[in-house]
Amino acid sequence: MEVSEVIKERYSCRKFLNKEVDKELLFECIELGKQAPSSKNTQPWKICVVKGNPLKLLVDDLVKAAKEKQPFSPDYSFEPKKLPEIQQQRAKKCGHDLFKLKGVGRDDMIKRNAHMLENFEFFGAPVVIFAYLDKSIQGDCSKGMYLDAGLFIQNLWLSIRNSGLEACVLYSVLLYSPLIRKYTMIPENTEIICAMAVGYPDNEAVVTTFRTEKMELSEFVTYIED
Ligand SMILES: Cc1cc2nc3c(=O)[nH]c(=O)nc-3n(C[C@H](O)[C@H](O)[C@H](O)COP(=O)(O)O)c2cc1C
Repeated sequence: MEVSEVIKERYSCRKFLNKEVDKELLFECIELGKQAPSSKNTQPWKICVVKGNPLKLLVDDLVKAAKEKQPFSPDYSFEPKKLPEIQQQRAKKCGHDLFKLKGVGRDDMIKRNAHMLENFEFFGAPVVIFAYLDKSIQGDCSKGMYLDAGLFIQNLWLSIRNSGLEACVLYSVLLYSPLIRKYTMIPENTEIICAMAVGYPDNEAVVTTFRTEKMELSEFVTYIED
């Protein structure tokens, strides 16, 4: 595929088929992902790929934690308490449009809850990739490391899409990072920064037709010339 086509057609897939993902194909995507640039070529990202029984056990624990409303324990604060107004509006519209497509009513707590739990099931994906960063000697992660990792994750996502697979990056599951560590053995002196559900899309599911609106250039580009 043309790069422009892969970029335009990438979307967050929220329903996967229970279909095996070839390890070689996945590793080809990771090989391409690792070509990402990083400050001073530090390449701070690390990933852990989980599938099969360990993933099933993790999903069971995550769903249980979410149902029981167990206390959250994310490694880092991935969202500010209050977004700027315009971003709040976009987030609201995204949720509203997704619920409308899925037929989830405003006050339908049963369907809303079911939707929330689908996150903790990684939307049925047969493979999940956790990205994490080693903490610095000072015991934290610099903002630049998140930027480097973001470039890697997007490279990986586009490579995944180009291979015929789909993906969805998730923050929500990070709320229970100790459970993720239990099944992945990701070391303690790290920050788990996101999960990525990977697999073949269930194109019969209405949710896989969901596409988001992107802003106009005039909303974010400042162009200065003489
Ligand atoms: C860092 C990050 C975290 C995300 N976390 C979630 C999540 O927990 N649950 C979910 O359904 N989608 C999640 N998404 C998907 C976004 O909602 C999605 O990227 C956004 O709405 C734009 O849609 P698109 O990816 O289809 O272009 C996440 C995306 C990113 C980049």
